[in-house]
Amino acid sequence: MEATYGATQQPEFLKKIFRERRLNNTPLDQSGVWRYREMFPFLEDYSRVVTLREGNTPLLDAPIAAKYGGLFNLTFKHQGFNPTGSFKDNGMTCGVAQAVRLGMKRVACVSTGNTSASMAAYAAAGGLEALIFLPHGNISFGKLSQALEYGAKTLQVEANFDQILALVRVLAERLGIYLLNSMNPFRIEGQKSIMFEMLDQLDWRVPDWVVLPGGNLGNVSAFGKGLREAKDAGLIDRLPKLAVIQAEGSAPFHELWQRGSGGLCPVKNPETLATAIRIGDPVSWPKALHEVRNSGGTVEKVTEQEIADAKAQIGLCGIGCEPASAATLAGIRKLTARGVIDRVENVIAVLTGNVLKDSDYIYRYHTGQLEAPGGVKIQSTFGNKPIVAPNDPDKIAELLR
Ligand code: F0G
Repeated sequence: MEATYGATQQPEFLKKIFRERRLNNTPLDQSGVWRYREMFPFLEDYSRVVTLREGNTPLLDAPIAAKYGGLFNLTFKHQGFNPTGSFKDNGMTCGVAQAVRLGMKRVACVSTGNTSASMAAYAAAGGLEALIFLPHGNISFGKLSQALEYGAKTLQVEANFDQILALVRVLAERLGIYLLNSMNPFRIEGQKSIMFEMLDQLDWRVPDWVVLPGGNLGNVSAFGKGLREAKDAGLIDRLPKLAVIQAEGSAPFHELWQRGSGGLCPVKNPETLATAIRIGDPVSWPKALHEVRNSGGTVEKVTEQEIADAKAQIGLCGIGCEPASAATLAGIRKLTARGVIDRVENVIAVLTGNVLKDSDYIYRYHTGQLEAPGGVKIQSTFGNKPIVAPNDPDKIAELLR
């Protein structure tokens, strides 16, 4: 199921109002989501929209990462600049708008961490009760802390993401809660705005590739839909190719892509240190498959070591991101090596989460203590250990020589 709308205004008029709204101080126009509201006109009344000024995330050139990825140029669209530090805020403002529109009082989600952080914040800001279900022991502390700070009732369930999602789908009806997971079509509508904002920032020049990590596959479904609709509305004249990158231990979509036909075979026990994408049975795979195929794109998978090293390279650009986001650069490196992406092509990689979401991972990598699931040690290839120094100027001077 996807939301569809009839023809809207002329493309030149839309481009003009999208740009002009950046100068307005009204909350709706300051939001990098609602600024593009003609592209998802599902609300009759905008007065109760809950916005934390989401979106407005930068495009950042990253020469060091470009070189590492085998490209002449690489630009990151950094969704970690969002109010709760991930791309989930783009979708959540729309999902919560729909919950309010329906008169719902309680909202719920299952999450690997970022959706819950985002939902907790938007529910709090909108005066809704938030109920969160998390896989116990398998989300980063930063994300869990956000949910607690924003006042959500938080249940850590002893099961993995896929199992809890099945559980909550049954419970939602019984408990009268509005489910705000990524199969919620209104969240998909909001996440489309990431592509509209990217194109607006590029003066509507279309990149050759948009590369993103894949977990539950809601985001690639949203990007594909947004790009198709931008083309239908005459805002752009061609589609960029979509490349989805999965972590090797949680890569059922990559396996399906390689097989080329049939349905998705879930991974029973998905594993990866990039816990945001530790998902074995992604619900949105049919939509995602359609969008990747339609764009002429591809799907790649990367190892734990490749993710960790790519992440450190993104850090060396002064940018930083969480582990799942770094799968993009690791994937680009593989795709250029295989000649799927040409080094001269324009590539935009979407960094989905903020560097501070998982600081434990960073510390372990740089101090040589990071271990992949199964106990295999991750090499600290680009490690940067802190140095313990005595309280002595001569000895410190000696250390810094
Ligand atoms: N990157 C980050 C940082 C994420 O948090 C997620 C998903 C993804 C990538 C994958 O996006 O699921 O649309 O393919 N996180 C969800 C959550 C599952 O619960 O926060 P996807």
